[in-house]
Amino acid sequence: QLLDASGVWRYRELILPAPEQYVVTRPEGNTGLYPVGIENCGPGRAGHRQIGLYAGLERFFLKHEGENPTGSFKDRGMTVGVTMALMMGAKAVACASTGNTSASLASYAAQAGLRGIVFLPAGNVAGGKLAQSLAYGATTVQIRGDFDDAMRLVEQVCNELGIYLLNSLNPFRVEGQKAIGFEVLQQLDWQAPDWLVLPAGNLGNTSAIGKAFRQAYQLGLISNMPRIASIQAAGANPFYRSFTQNFASYEPVQADTVATAIKIGNPVSYTRARRSIEESDGIVEQVSDDEILAAKAIIDRAGIGCEPASAATLAGARKLVARGVIKRDERVVGILTGNLLKDSKTGIPQEVGGTVVDATFDAVRKVLAE
Ligand code: F0G
Repeated sequence: QLLDASGVWRYRELILPAPEQYVVTRPEGNTGLYPVGIENCGPGRAGHRQIGLYAGLERFFLKHEGENPTGSFKDRGMTVGVTMALMMGAKAVACASTGNTSASLASYAAQAGLRGIVFLPAGNVAGGKLAQSLAYGATTVQIRGDFDDAMRLVEQVCNELGIYLLNSLNPFRVEGQKAIGFEVLQQLDWQAPDWLVLPAGNLGNTSAIGKAFRQAYQLGLISNMPRIASIQAAGANPFYRSFTQNFASYEPVQADTVATAIKIGNPVSYTRARRSIEESDGIVEQVSDDEILAAKAIIDRAGIGCEPASAATLAGARKLVARGVIKRDERVVGILTGNLLKDSKTGIPQEVGGTVVDATFDAVRKVLAE
């Protein structure tokens, strides 16, 4: 019933066996898996096929996690994290965020009747995301600093003031996000893809999906481990840099990218994410802001749409195909992490756009003929 309607709690035996009355669910998950490859697009998907052509992939799927209740994959971890907070008797929950985790926390905290507190890097959060935190009633603290400063502060605040921390440091968040992996496998009838490609910032999702695949493999639900390709923005690439040295060293960077969701210089889940890459024989790639915006335009024009960070998935897949790392005929799933409406400015030419004309048939005909 209630739990089975959620694309997270459906897998509760592998996530968190919580008593049903405590479960804080909207519900989440059950997001679309769109066939967008050159070979797996029928006539009804002629527009989506442009994405397959751009990537150079015959059998390509995009899973749109922007179709979750608050518009990003963060709801999958938040439903479990807030449920745990409620079970433990917490009164307040907090996170640092580039905007999506905070939107999700604000919504789920409000639903559970808990106080939500979010720490954001001032001036670096997309408008739609900030509007969500405020509308859902979270105490919204804008830090003069970057995400990494906000992260450092929220840990201290939670420790000293007894507030429940809901960043992906929190293991229950990661448990919930595993459901992305389970749901992909179920939608593909448990025929594991060759690759799973996703954007990488704080590295919670790389950790979670790697763990999901490992568990599915160990339980015999799938017969091969999909290889994970984590894609970073070139201006926020500490994981990529470490990967290129076989993870022999790690250093934080000063982050700068147009994709504010992944503008993170010192990811908290580095160690767990590294395990996902190593165990899946995966790879970490980086893409420039120009590559991200070009890929976003392709996804947007195909009628699917996503926020900038999500487009790193397509930009990265295209690059890995061009490099011969991913083969043209391999089955590939890409994750789109956030909704187009989250960030209605970046990469979109005019917010109030189109052409303004007089209210006459002649004026309209002229525009259409151009
Ligand atoms: N895509 C989007 C849209 C995100 O919001 C994030 C992370 C990521 C990708 C990267 O995922 O951190 O698990 O590697 N957003 C966090 C936030 C940091 O605060 O909303 P990750």
